[in-house]
Amino acid sequence: MDLFEYQARDLFEKYGVPVLPGIVADTPAEARAAAEKLGGVTVVKAQVKTGGRGKAGGVKVAKTPDEAEAAAEAILGLDIKGHVVKRLMVAAGADITEEYYFSVLLDRANRSYLSLASFEGGMEIEQLAVEKPEALARIEVDPATGITPEKAKEIAVAAKFPAEVVDKVAEVFVKLYEVYTGEDATLVEVNPLILSGSGEVIALDGKVTLDENAEFRHPEHDALEDKSAADPLEAKAKANDLNYVKLDGEVGIIGNGAGLVMSTLDVVAYAGERHGDVKPANFLDIGGGASAEVMAAGLDVILGDAQVKSVFVNVFGGITACDAVATGIVTALGMLGDAATKPLVVRLDGNKVEEGRRILSDAGHPLVTLADDMDSGADKAAELASR
Ligand SMILES: Nc1ncnc2c1ncn2[C@@H]1O[C@H](COP(=O)(O)OP(=O)(O)OP(=O)(O)O)[C@@H](O)[C@H]1O
Ligand SMILES: [Mg+2]
Repeated sequence: MDLFEYQARDLFEKYGVPVLPGIVADTPAEARAAAEKLGGVTVVKAQVKTGGRGKAGGVKVAKTPDEAEAAAEAILGLDIKGHVVKRLMVAAGADITEEYYFSVLLDRANRSYLSLASFEGGMEIEQLAVEKPEALARIEVDPATGITPEKAKEIAVAAKFPAEVVDKVAEVFVKLYEVYTGEDATLVEVNPLILSGSGEVIALDGKVTLDENAEFRHPEHDALEDKSAADPLEAKAKANDLNYVKLDGEVGIIGNGAGLVMSTLDVVAYAGERHGDVKPANFLDIGGGASAEVMAAGLDVILGDAQVKSVFVNVFGGITACDAVATGIVTALGMLGDAATKPLVVRLDGNKVEEGRRILSDAGHPLVTLADDMDSGADKAAELASR
């Protein structure tokens, strides 16, 4: 999960990384109030999860609260690489002498951590890496020892930082590494890290990516999630612990096991070519122990997708046998009642397939069609979706 700059700023502050005061604003009036509160020169910054904000006109210096309000008017609603600005941070203006670059990230290829640093910050690092590779130091960081004060100095020296600031920036690197490990991040990047006129090293911008696999260790990270940006169906699925990914088509898919669901997507896409080019509407793996509740939650999410015209349930009974799955479907349809409006094609195979089919045909739900196998089920579902 990527964080907004203001969230990164707050984390930095918590770990003692020097940052400037910043106030979040969602309207021009709030930006004005923030500038009044901060006093002096401020910088109004677009809060979007993409780079190159400055170049896109998303970072503006304001000398007065009036200017901050005007800057906010100009920045709010701006489209920066497909991200519409809905929120701003009004930050205290810095007196910049030099701009540096520092990051620490997970280096998957080398199964290690990597620190990148440069005495030439400010510009985009991708550009620096191409145009002036010699100015960018790449230092491996052993996860077992991390960025100790010695390691931090090694990084600063390798990145050709001026001798008189090595100790100062090294101290900040150590703290940024504490953010990285303490929050289970996969990226902590500061561009620019500045040297101020009075000789202080300050993080003026921050990018942090948190490792979602470590979510269970950080219940507090839940509050950092940008719920407004999430697809509402995906958010609903997540709330029900379902493995769901919204796609663009018309045939809702439910299966058990990621592999089976993936191949169901392929088979439905293929069948769809014969029926007006309909496509799978989602990936949804209800997993091994598919209870009626899980089935109901899954169906509920899929039926809530306005694009969905039909649903293909493709289940291979294993530990959870077909009779339990069939009961789940019948119960789920009962629980959903009138909310269930779209035709369902069900293919069951595997453990207790006969019992499962009998339960479904005995229930005789008008929306349910039983399919003999995966191909004919996919074909039927695609046909129903194309009507
Ligand atoms: N608080 C501040 N005071 C003075 N100048 C600032 C401040 N914040 C940013 N700047 C200036 O604006 C430039 C761009 O800001 P910043 O690094 O935050 O955004 P960006 O790099 O354009 O966006 P991104 O990091 O998303 O690519 C900085 O390099 C710095 O020169
Ligand atoms: Mg930046």
